[in-house]
Amino acid sequence: MKHEIINDLESRYTAKKYDPSKKISQDDLAVLLEALRLSASSINSQPWKFVVIESEEAKQRMHDSFANMHQFNQHHIKACSHVILFANKLTYSRNDYELVLNKAVQDNRITEEQKEAAFGSFKFVELNCDENGQHKAWTKPQVYLALGNALHTLARLNIDSTTMEGVDSELLNEIFSDELAGYECHVALAIGYHHASEDYNASLPKSRKAFKDVITVL
Ligand SMILES: Cc1cc2nc3c(=O)[nH]c(=O)nc-3n(C[C@H](O)[C@H](O)[C@H](O)COP(=O)(O)O)c2cc1C
Repeated sequence: MKHEIINDLESRYTAKKYDPSKKISQDDLAVLLEALRLSASSINSQPWKFVVIESEEAKQRMHDSFANMHQFNQHHIKACSHVILFANKLTYSRNDYELVLNKAVQDNRITEEQKEAAFGSFKFVELNCDENGQHKAWTKPQVYLALGNALHTLARLNIDSTTMEGVDSELLNEIFSDELAGYECHVALAIGYHHASEDYNASLPKSRKAFKDVITVL
């Protein structure tokens, strides 16, 4: 019998058409959002924000963000159940890290006295500062860890999803400027249930490179 993790990863796929009559439950949504919150990140920086698009009004704004490009993804917005914007912080300050460390104290992971020593890890942030004083090249990949976590969580919940790097970041950041202030969104995730007869991807076999082409065991 195959391991259930492998079953999850084999069964999940990128949905290409959603059934607009099906919405995910608030209980399942809560599991997904908690999985996002629990995602790992470098030095536990959590340099992200996840914006959940649920209301018709927010969906209209998301729909409008495809005005100029990537229209192939636009039809998902109103048909799927929810869209999650994955946003990464533009700059990551000592204050940002202090909030993380304060929470670690509150969670009894470190003591107040250990906080100053824990600041040593901030060197990773300083090493990843660009010429404009921003850290987005470092914060952006952290967000993809949360995305991977979300894909597996959704597979376990039997919820379909569509990762969309095909989004207009600039326009998205304009339309959701209040929610994304200080962050930028380069990837979004549509979630819901696929259309039984119109999702051509649902029945295609999974295709990945062979084990020997991607794994080296020494
Ligand atoms: C970072 C990333 C960006 C993607 N962007 C899009 C996209 O904009 N639209 C889309 O239909 N699929 C998108 N995909 C889906 C991939 O094409 C898909 O994951 C890949 O072909 C593997 O197929 P599977 O997800 O069905 O296993 C994206 C996937 C990832 C991981």
